[in-house]
Amino acid sequence: MHLDVRCKLFAEYSTTEELSDLLNSTEYRQNRSMHIGGGSNLVFTRDYDGMLLHSQSRFINITDETADTVTIEAGAGMVWDDFVKYCIAHNYYGAENMSGIPGEVGASAVQNIGSYGAEVCEIISRVHCIEKATGKAITFTSDQCRYAYRDSIFKGEYFNRYIVTSVEYTLSKVPQFTLTYGPLKALGQKTDLTLQNVRETIIAVRNSKLPNPTETGSVGSFFKNPVIPENLFTALQSTYPAIPHYPAGNGLIKVPAGWLIENAGLKGYTVGGACVYPKQCLVIANTGNAAPDDIVALYKHIIATVADKYGIELHPEANII
Ligand code: EPU
Repeated sequence: MHLDVRCKLFAEYSTTEELSDLLNSTEYRQNRSMHIGGGSNLVFTRDYDGMLLHSQSRFINITDETADTVTIEAGAGMVWDDFVKYCIAHNYYGAENMSGIPGEVGASAVQNIGSYGAEVCEIISRVHCIEKATGKAITFTSDQCRYAYRDSIFKGEYFNRYIVTSVEYTLSKVPQFTLTYGPLKALGQKTDLTLQNVRETIIAVRNSKLPNPTETGSVGSFFKNPVIPENLFTALQSTYPAIPHYPAGNGLIKVPAGWLIENAGLKGYTVGGACVYPKQCLVIANTGNAAPDDIVALYKHIIATVADKYGIELHPEANII
């Protein structure tokens, strides 16, 4: 988010042995702590009076291979998009729609990142962790991680209990593409479609809608897309016939928060240095000098305005600390 906030202690490690030493250190034991990935989905509302931990484990190994699939283990500190590039370079199918998502491998498994018709839980097979309290290694299968839309057991019941050390992903060696998202549909006509073509299209869509994280502070989507009961949706649709919507199962309907925010007149709305990003209203951007309080005041204003207009409560997708 490009905010001027600091932590008291910052600790990095490259191996599980180093992590174990860290968990036994006086500094760790005497301070509150939190593990971060690339930090791209975090909003610190003030300085952090404790220890932030960060993995520098960036290995990549093939752990299993069949005629049709390959299973790859990647260190939690590997940059997610470097993993995607590796898969594309080796013609492994399944990660390409998630090209360009900021952040790291470890966080991909916590956050269940997703974009353009794909969610990382579809390719995760196992998540390797260390329990913070005991230092013991434990492996979770994808089912045990209880993945849902931008959610996992690591954000709920097991919040702050485990540190992800590596993730195993199973990808297809047989060409298979997911081209359901609007701008990707046209690629289905191409007879010689490659993973690189998909990546380039996705990067172009991202660049047209989302701020470049190295230039402009943001956390990507600030809010989750709300999922509402069908009767509430039908009532909304009669007032707003153009409202985009997607079935979310169990009689529920998902509506894009970006549309709700834009249609509430908040496009470009600014508080201090924080603004509703005009090209994608789901994003809060730091225009250069935002204070944490500007971000907080803006996101609370968005929640209140949307609740007032539609009777829908938005929930942050970003982790606000
Ligand atoms: N829309 C508007 N105005 C806006 C933004 C969106 O009217 O300002 C409308 C669009 O026209 C479209 C619909 O809302 O009809 C959906 O928009 P879009 O395809 O851009 O996707 P999204 O639902 O806004 C989600 C993810 C993004 C992901 C895209 C593509 C969430 C919270 N966000 O956004 O993820 O890139 O789909 O798959 O699920 C992220 O998590 O940080 C992120 C960027």
